[in-house]
Amino acid sequence: MEHAEVNVGWSCIFLSLFSALSSSFGYTPCDLPQIENGNIAQYYYSFKSYYFPMHKGKKLSYSCVVGYTTESGTQDGRITCTAEGWSPVPRCYRKCTKPPLENGSFYSTEMDFKLHEKLQYKCNPGYLTPSGATEDTVQCQPQGWSFQPSCTKTLGNCASPPVIENGAVLGPVLASYKNGSWVEYVCHHYHFLDGPSTVYCHQGNWTEQPTCLEPCTLNVTDMDSNNLTLKWRREELIFLHGDLIEFECKQGYSFLQTAIPSPGRTQCDQGRVNYPKCLCRKRAVKRKPSCSFNL
Ligand SMILES: *[C@@H]1O[C@H](CO)[C@@H](O)[C@H](O)[C@H]1NC(C)=O
Ligand SMILES: *[C@@H]1O[C@H](CO)[C@@H](O)[C@H](O)[C@H]1NC(C)=O
Ligand SMILES: *[C@@H]1O[C@H](CO)[C@@H](O)[C@H](O)[C@H]1NC(C)=O
Ligand SMILES: *[C@@H]1O[C@H](CO)[C@@H](O)[C@H](O)[C@H]1NC(C)=O
Ligand SMILES: *[C@@H]1O[C@H](CO)[C@@H](O)[C@H](O)[C@H]1NC(C)=O
Repeated sequence: MEHAEVNVGWSCIFLSLFSALSSSFGYTPCDLPQIENGNIAQYYYSFKSYYFPMHKGKKLSYSCVVGYTTESGTQDGRITCTAEGWSPVPRCYRKCTKPPLENGSFYSTEMDFKLHEKLQYKCNPGYLTPSGATEDTVQCQPQGWSFQPSCTKTLGNCASPPVIENGAVLGPVLASYKNGSWVEYVCHHYHFLDGPSTVYCHQGNWTEQPTCLEPCTLNVTDMDSNNLTLKWRREELIFLHGDLIEFECKQGYSFLQTAIPSPGRTQCDQGRVNYPKCLCRKRAVKRKPSCSFNL
């Protein structure tokens, strides 16, 4: 008990001593402010002892030198004398200038950035930010950018998989893929996938992509001029690459080549069809001429 009372007593004495010192030394907090990279009007400096110290409630303007701004990003600031001194504390912060960046680009075209301002950037395909993302944001801070924006080629990473004709990658396409990851290719409707459908990112390169081979669409004009019909009726005249197409000759016609086993059979080859030819049978002319042939 006694001990606590003694403590309170000492604090009282200390406080009164402090206030006594303050008043007796003419303690006023609002002296000529020292602002690094900033100034107040010249006459305040010239007539310093006339203007300072200032009284509580007095206001003062200051301006930052070129390349610096106040905390709120303006060139000029206004401060007020309070019991605790100038408020807010006058400070000038260096503006951030657009930093250099290789293998990437900024979203903004501005060259100067105010304190706290943010700058977003993205890396070119195959390059990543320090955090391993494709894009990031840096912020202008009193000592400069929050971090140096950079884009580095991550060893083994691949850019977006190659675009192929008449086909696409299944699912969303990313800007960057890790070493060892894979994508699946599919071909457009009726196109024949030739080669591996799964393609791997192998140490920065994609393995061989498949090709999508075109289907064959039978041309009725060509069939007519070759005197052909399809052997098997079907709804669509489309065949996939590699499909066998069986023709037969129209009534009264026969195949030009009779030496081969199946003269009416042909294969769709990347959109191309080699139509067999049928000619009018000579014997047929005498009986019932359903066709005629040029002499
Ligand atoms: C990345 O930047 C460096 C330095 O500017 C340059 O030499 C290189 O060609 C760039 N790489 C690509 C893929 O643009
Ligand atoms: C890529 O992955 C392969 C197989 O896992 C590994 O041997 C190779 O070292 C990796 N390359 C890089 C550059 O990380
Ligand atoms: C990737 O491809 C490039 C160009 O075709 C080649 O120079 C390089 O050696 C390849 N890298 C690997 C790890 O196969
Ligand atoms: C069919 O073939 C003829 C002649 O070979 C050509 O003129 C015509 O454009 C073709 N028709 C179609 C639909 O491709
Ligand atoms: C189809 O038949 C006609 C009449 O018999 C003939 O003139 C023509 O040459 C035939 N077409 C072909 C491609 O042989």
